[in-house]
Amino acid sequence: MSVDAPVRRHAPATSHLDQPRGTHPIELRGVRKAFGGNAPILDGVDLGFPDDAITTVLGPSGTGKSVLLKHIVGLLEPDEGEVSVFGNDIWRVPPVERYELRKRFGVLFQDGALFGSMNLYDNVAFPLRKHTQMSEREIRDTVMTHLAEVGLEAAVDKAPNEISGGMRKRAGFARALVMRPDVVLFDEPDSGLDPVRTKLLCQLIAEVHREHGGTYIVITHDIPSARTLSDYVAVLWKGKIQHHSAADEAFGSSDPFVRQFLAGAADGPLGMD
Ligand SMILES: Nc1ncnc2c1ncn2[C@@H]1O[C@H](COP(=O)(O)OP(=O)(O)OP(=O)(O)O)[C@@H](O)[C@H]1O
Ligand SMILES: [Mg+2]
Repeated sequence: MSVDAPVRRHAPATSHLDQPRGTHPIELRGVRKAFGGNAPILDGVDLGFPDDAITTVLGPSGTGKSVLLKHIVGLLEPDEGEVSVFGNDIWRVPPVERYELRKRFGVLFQDGALFGSMNLYDNVAFPLRKHTQMSEREIRDTVMTHLAEVGLEAAVDKAPNEISGGMRKRAGFARALVMRPDVVLFDEPDSGLDPVRTKLLCQLIAEVHREHGGTYIVITHDIPSARTLSDYVAVLWKGKIQHHSAADEAFGSSDPFVRQFLAGAADGPLGMD
């Protein structure tokens, strides 16, 4: 897809934080994080992720995108600031409530993070067996529905190492969806895939989102993926959100950094440092 291709669709309302608290399912306010006395990786991140929209978080390698994702899912605690999930500051609620809130997330990690010793069926069934009281018959219906949704119903008996990287990502996506999450996060869904598989996976993500709705957060540095998927675009660099807007506005931005980054150009304010 060329960088001039139209963006996915016009975004609803706004995604900014200048609205009452709790407007968006996920809100980060002034999030700051440093590791071991080093310069902060996140240095006052303010960002809202609206419901029923796909927000992509873009940024050069090593800027802290995965660190940001770990804050959203509650795996890392900010040094300062607040991560609010459905109106709850996740580090101010009791651990048991934080655990319950996490159940509303589906996460697709970079490599699919499947259990190597289990076939695809058991991988996708795992969250249901762990977190629900469903009978094996209900589990079967749910697992098969989601594997069919990602086109893997014929591969249920395969082990992760018997299938391609693209299939592993789709299986990971099925597992992320199986608890009917309100929020689905993807860390670089495109990594390790060729451009055609990347495009197909992005189309699948967009289709599933259209079907189920919810808050989707996609972390990537792949511009074509962002064009296919985004309702909103946030650009993270030097610890801060440098740009945050509806996708069409981001891709039409006159800001030199945003233009350079979204065009993948070598010339501009963004260097190797
Ligand atoms: N647990 C940790 N302890 C110390 N440093 C960390 C930790 N996690 C991340 N970092 C550092 O934070 C920085 C940002 O890392 P992060 O993985 O978030 O980058 P990224 O934007 O996801 O990059 P990429 O696009 O390559 O995946 C890196 O310098 C990394 O070494
Ligand atoms: Mg990363």
